[in-house]
Amino acid sequence: MSFLDQIEPLKQAAIADLHAATDLGALEQTKGSYLGAQGKFTGLMKQLGTLSKEEKPAAGKLINQAKAELEAALVARRAELELKAALPKEPTDFTLPGRRRTLGKLHPLTQVTEDIVRAFRKIGFAVADGPEIEDEYHCFDALNTPADHPARDSQDTFYLATPNRQLLRTHTSSVQIRVMEKQPPPVRIIAPGRVYRRDNADATHNPTFQQIEGLYVDKRVTIGDLKGTVEFVFQELLGNDVRVRFRPHYFSYTEPSFEIDFSSAMVRKMGKEWLEIAGCGMVHPKVFETVGYDPEIWTGWAFGFGIERIAMLRYEINDIRLFYENDVRFLKQF
Ligand code: DAH
Repeated sequence: MSFLDQIEPLKQAAIADLHAATDLGALEQTKGSYLGAQGKFTGLMKQLGTLSKEEKPAAGKLINQAKAELEAALVARRAELELKAALPKEPTDFTLPGRRRTLGKLHPLTQVTEDIVRAFRKIGFAVADGPEIEDEYHCFDALNTPADHPARDSQDTFYLATPNRQLLRTHTSSVQIRVMEKQPPPVRIIAPGRVYRRDNADATHNPTFQQIEGLYVDKRVTIGDLKGTVEFVFQELLGNDVRVRFRPHYFSYTEPSFEIDFSSAMVRKMGKEWLEIAGCGMVHPKVFETVGYDPEIWTGWAFGFGIERIAMLRYEINDIRLFYENDVRFLKQF
């Protein structure tokens, strides 16, 4: 057979063999048998040198063309086989049920906090924040809480072994001071956050819990504003049958001071008429003086309540420790 007549059949055979290769290994072998150093196609190309000067150009052109076709076929087949190798070996059963991902959800305390914040935002309160590691000044002194006050006792408060006697804040009231130090009146903020006390855990106590603080400072602010605000927020949170009552009390940073009791069908279900839920009062003039607000011009009220209390009422939970045990079976329910 003449040289030129061999090209086409060899190319056809090569392409057929490339297609017949069913995996990448076989394909590389086929490639070698045609295009490798000892390959059949390489052998044919070597014969090119034996041709006469006249025959060479046409033969060269033809064989190069055939080689290019072969290489293109090789690349195409390799891509097919690579794709095949990447696909799952077992046939896919599209009728099988999908894999369910378990969806997490917000902790009940986070949900309640967000709802409280939402209710306060409706009436123009902004959210403020302060550090959980506080100093005595912001936690006590600036709040007119004298050095001999029991709240400052190491029996009641976690002090850190730092030179300036830092502590884990015992209430969010410290945020009142931090806000007033930073901005001139009027002020309308709430401050949700974690607080710490040297308490033994039982059904109604936990050494860490959450509070929400409120502070409203403006001209001619009254206790009536406070009562209306508290009533509005509790009704938003816990339903329209909620009633609120103020009972005289003592806090060193407010004067007069009150405890807020709260009543609803839920409370009555617990066998009580009223449930104590928050402390509040008109901001003490000494607190205003400390932060540089003129108490002759500015008036204000403040409150602080426990978020767990509200969550317990809302979800009818009877043990505060459940919030902190991280038992998914409990948390899933809310
Ligand atoms: N800080 C108080 C507590 O932890 C609650 C409180 C009472 C906050 C009266 C206030 C307030 O802002 O005016 O028990």
